[in-house]
Amino acid sequence: MDYADIIGELTKRLSAKRLSHSIGVSQTAESLAVRFGCNKEKARLAGLLHDLAREVPVNELLQRAQAFGIVVCDIEQAEPVLLHAPLAAKMAQAEFGIDDAEIMQAIILHTTGGLNMTRLDKIIYLADVIEPSRSFKGIDKIRQVAHTDLDEALLLALDQSICYIVKRRGLIHPATIVARNEILRKGSTY
Ligand SMILES: [Fe+2]
Ligand SMILES: [Fe+2]
Repeated sequence: MDYADIIGELTKRLSAKRLSHSIGVSQTAESLAVRFGCNKEKARLAGLLHDLAREVPVNELLQRAQAFGIVVCDIEQAEPVLLHAPLAAKMAQAEFGIDDAEIMQAIILHTTGGLNMTRLDKIIYLADVIEPSRSFKGIDKIRQVAHTDLDEALLLALDQSICYIVKRRGLIHPATIVARNEILRKGSTY
């Protein structure tokens, strides 16, 4: 399935707004891949497919994730929307023939981040936050830093996500804290 075929298929599954977001993430990820020396085809595909399961109804997410054998933690039980990330990776494999472990991992980690993030993982996480249709206080700074320093931009993006969740009194997934701590402790890792 090529890029245009995938877009055609996504049109059936996602709202126009979400499809436009997905294309924005794909294009942003591709340019970040060129900038930071990563496989741009993988970045393009992971970006396009990352929210494949984002419009699966919340009350179906848990069951569909478990049907794929996804191990669900207590935070994901409480916030099933988080499962759209690992579910998208499984659906990308089962329904779109994506069989690349790096692409799948980047899709899995796009919402929470995690330990030992690869350059591709970081690029997809970041592209999801800064793609052109996104707008929030502080985004200009993240976009600017993303021109030169992938880890620093990721750190800012993780910070913004954590602050957003805190303000809404939401649950922070431990993987997000792990990702942030790792960048702070290692400094530049790529
Ligand atoms: Fe997402
Ligand atoms: Fe997204």
